[in-house]
Amino acid sequence: MTDKELYIKALKAMEKAYAPYSGFCVGAAVLTKCGVVFTGCNIENSAYGTTICAERVAMSKAISEGYKHFDAIAVASNNGYAYPCGTCRQFIFEFGDDIRVIVGNEESIIHSYTIEELLPFGFRLENGK
Ligand code: THU
Repeated sequence: MTDKELYIKALKAMEKAYAPYSGFCVGAAVLTKCGVVFTGCNIENSAYGTTICAERVAMSKAISEGYKHFDAIAVASNNGYAYPCGTCRQFIFEFGDDIRVIVGNEESIIHSYTIEELLPFGFRLENGK
């Protein structure tokens, strides 16, 4: 699966976004090391802090189905490049510092970064040992 193909799956997942408050629709598609793709969208809530981001929905679907080794996660939005928020960066980092994050814009021009590039010195419990 190419980065562009994964990004197109994120774009498709974005169509399911539930974003009545912000109007900011996000889709994510995570590719496991064994080639399985899980997708997710953002799901907002009238208690705003209860909102969950597309990246964590996609990854939670994978992890809860027994997949925890990831190659890449693509993120798409209806408003240009959607770089994962800080919470999602930390969530992704938990599962490996070499997971690639693919972002794209309306013209489907994509860029990719490792999660370690997006979250240098990310937190791990064992850091303190
Ligand atoms: N959002 C995501 O889905 N992923 C991110 O990494 C950043 C923000 C969503 C949450 C909320 O529904 C909307 O974008 C505006 O913050």
